[in-house]
Amino acid sequence: MTASYISVVKLAIFISASSLVCCLPQSGKHDLTLQDDPPDQRYPQHVHLSLGVAETEMVVTWTTFQETPGAAEYSLPMSPQKMTVPSTVTIFIDGGDEHRKYYIHRAHMTHLKPSQVYSYRVGDESGGWSPLFSFRATPSGPNWSPVVAVYGDLGNRNGRSIGRLQTEAQYETINAVFHIGDFAYDMQEDNGRVGDDFMAQIESIAGYVPYMTAVGNHENPYNFSNYRNRFSMPGGDGEGLFYSFDYGPAHIVIFSSEFYFFLNQGLELIAKQKLWLMKDFEAANKNRAERPWLIVQSHRPMYCSNNDDDDCSISKELENNVSLVGGACRVLRYALEDTLYEAGVDMYISAHEHSYERAWPIYDRKICNGSYDHPYTDPSAPVHIITGSAGMQSGHDAFETEVPFWSAYRTQNYGYSRLHITNATHMLVEWVDDEQDGKVTDSIWVIKNKHGAGTYDCHLKEEKRW
Ligand SMILES: [Fe+2]
Repeated sequence: MTASYISVVKLAIFISASSLVCCLPQSGKHDLTLQDDPPDQRYPQHVHLSLGVAETEMVVTWTTFQETPGAAEYSLPMSPQKMTVPSTVTIFIDGGDEHRKYYIHRAHMTHLKPSQVYSYRVGDESGGWSPLFSFRATPSGPNWSPVVAVYGDLGNRNGRSIGRLQTEAQYETINAVFHIGDFAYDMQEDNGRVGDDFMAQIESIAGYVPYMTAVGNHENPYNFSNYRNRFSMPGGDGEGLFYSFDYGPAHIVIFSSEFYFFLNQGLELIAKQKLWLMKDFEAANKNRAERPWLIVQSHRPMYCSNNDDDDCSISKELENNVSLVGGACRVLRYALEDTLYEAGVDMYISAHEHSYERAWPIYDRKICNGSYDHPYTDPSAPVHIITGSAGMQSGHDAFETEVPFWSAYRTQNYGYSRLHITNATHMLVEWVDDEQDGKVTDSIWVIKNKHGAGTYDCHLKEEKRW
């Protein structure tokens, strides 16, 4: 056998073997390796802003699904000087079966120049960067006029107001958003993926303006952990359940109505929050000359005229139940209507009912308008607004057929409110109707020539109650 013959045979065997390999069904090992190799999940997702404790600060929060250092890089437009601040990372394990692990990054962008527009991005070189976003730093002090979109009850399906809110945020017709509870429907669903979708949807709002939040009943699963971990609110309890901040001529207070309705955590939370509220109102009232408006927000209304079984609909029948208005809680001084009234709160904004409803100035089931012709000029009780209709999969909440005497305007349409805190004496509330191309179908000027604790005398009036 010659050497050349052997070479030909070897070549033939090699070719045959190669052909055989390429024609054999794939063993699967190689494919499985590819499939099991997870995609790189270190890129930043769910980017959203919130106000910091200081006016010269903006907090940016984002998520990665793998560990990576992370930082926020921010600068004035066209400036070659970029500031970089590393993120602090907390690990959040969702309570679902899959126990999905989130790396929640928070970075505090500090020393901001008031009213200046900054561009920013988050991430890092190894994991990747977010798109380049921008925001305007909070103007300094009380002498400016914030415009805020306010709503609750926004889902990741049928989220009717999202498009209009994205436009408002990106074109700066609003300075901030207040989302008063009930997110995504629900954030923990599908092992947190519904919350992930929602956070991605609002990124084009919350990446541009601070997205300030309150907790709602839909955040209850797993001890409100999706809410407490995904958002970053300044001060208060440190978990966004109750906190406050100054914003232009207003002091804004957010509290959890849910402590009153999920009592498995005990009454201690109600007591702790009440104590904090009393202290915060006391401090705010010492500062009313500088920040005259005191605006309180929480998820659940005290008064509503929807035809469901919610507490606000039937509060007159709840004399012995836990309630924000009365019942056993009033005896225990935990009910908050009295507290808000005594503190001279100007406005209480809530959601929960999937509708918009504006009440006449009201306290203890009595109307206390400023006057017949000008009900919202120097009223003798807080103004109550419900704005829980930004759009969600469960649709509208219907009203009782008969309009109660305290209800000034109501609609089931989808939309959101726009709050213009114009100056020390004037505030404009608008209802933006998403079923009428964003037309403002309700608006009131609230005019207050005096603000402060003990300025209301509604309790002395012999008015109609029910
Ligand atoms: Fe709700």
